[in-house]
Amino acid sequence: MFVCAKPIQEKTKTTMVRGSDAVLAASTIVAFLALLFLYLPPFIYPPPLSDSHNLLNSSVPVPVHAAFGPESLAFDPTGSGPYVGVADGRVLKWCQDTNSWIDFAFTSSQRKECTQPFAPELEHVCGRPLGLRFERKSGDLYIADAYFGLQVVGPEGGLATIVATEAQGQPFYFTNDLDIDEEEDVIYFTDSSTAFRRRDFMLSILTGDRTGRFMKYDKSTKQVTVLLRDLAFPNGVVLSKDRSFVLVSETRLCRILRYWLKGPNTGKTETFAELPGYPDNIRRNPKGEFWVGVHSKKTGLANWILRNPWFGTSFLLKLPLSFRQLHLLFVGGHHGIAMKLSSEGRVLEILEDVQGEVVRYISEVEERDGKLWIGSVMMPSIWTYELE
Ligand SMILES: *[C@@H]1O[C@H](CO)[C@@H](O)[C@H](O)[C@H]1NC(C)=O
Repeated sequence: MFVCAKPIQEKTKTTMVRGSDAVLAASTIVAFLALLFLYLPPFIYPPPLSDSHNLLNSSVPVPVHAAFGPESLAFDPTGSGPYVGVADGRVLKWCQDTNSWIDFAFTSSQRKECTQPFAPELEHVCGRPLGLRFERKSGDLYIADAYFGLQVVGPEGGLATIVATEAQGQPFYFTNDLDIDEEEDVIYFTDSSTAFRRRDFMLSILTGDRTGRFMKYDKSTKQVTVLLRDLAFPNGVVLSKDRSFVLVSETRLCRILRYWLKGPNTGKTETFAELPGYPDNIRRNPKGEFWVGVHSKKTGLANWILRNPWFGTSFLLKLPLSFRQLHLLFVGGHHGIAMKLSSEGRVLEILEDVQGEVVRYISEVEERDGKLWIGSVMMPSIWTYELE
């Protein structure tokens, strides 16, 4: 496609020139450091977290053939699966008896162009299914599609239909994850940003965006209610085992919030856990504990960048860095982390692949029959890991 260049504007000669010289000098230094960091092997891996076990490199990959980025995993009520949402807009199903993936569902009817495994520029056409949850009683699969909102598809799969796309007149812009309270017939879900789309998630992180919302959808009234707003990249959602609270990961702030649904604190929010990295989806195990997929560690550099959003906005995003380079600069090297929290937010276990030999950038961890099923929004594979 032909893209018109912007007309070059002549600089007006004012005292601003000195200021822009300083900006140029600073940008050059930053660019130099960035290039040094990105191209000088050996790579600096963020050190292991304290009390972590470097065991995830024994995970077994299950590649999603000709697909990319299985962000979320779900098993249907009969135990089949997992089902995963991938970057070209499909939901795939893993058939354990034939060891193969089949197409199960999709969130967009316009799929003619959706032939590449990873084409961020087409996500708004093809859809991008993120959080997946089956409703046990109906077998319906609910999908948080980053571009098309909350959707649902029946047990036979096919084209999903829209459940909700806006709240209080404001369209969802980056729907991310959900959980279903089947007794109350309510769906809790997140919209990570109202300013940036999924393919620009690094922009939301680097510019200090705080436009995310946490909401609920009431199936009987079809009403969407905003429960929390002005969140810094709200992401994973999970109900507690007794349904007295719901957790929301607030990725940019490396923390998990607890929103009370019952008891004396109903409607109140508190910090449930502060993490040493960026939490993505959260899933509950049968004991009522929580597995958190951690995208990456909070490195010193990332921490500094996030505390100084002007740096991201004025320098980093102006550098000629690709998305992958920007991402690598931020995460500080390939690695994989999964954390298990107690029902009260205490860290019970940290599993890592410190050098990202096998597992990298975990987006979700699902415990099932003594095994972890692990997804990643940035890899062409899921993995299984045998718990002792
Ligand atoms: C995983 O990493 C550890 C520590 O580096 C190493 O001792 C072990 O052999 C690795 N395991 C596999 C399966 O590569």
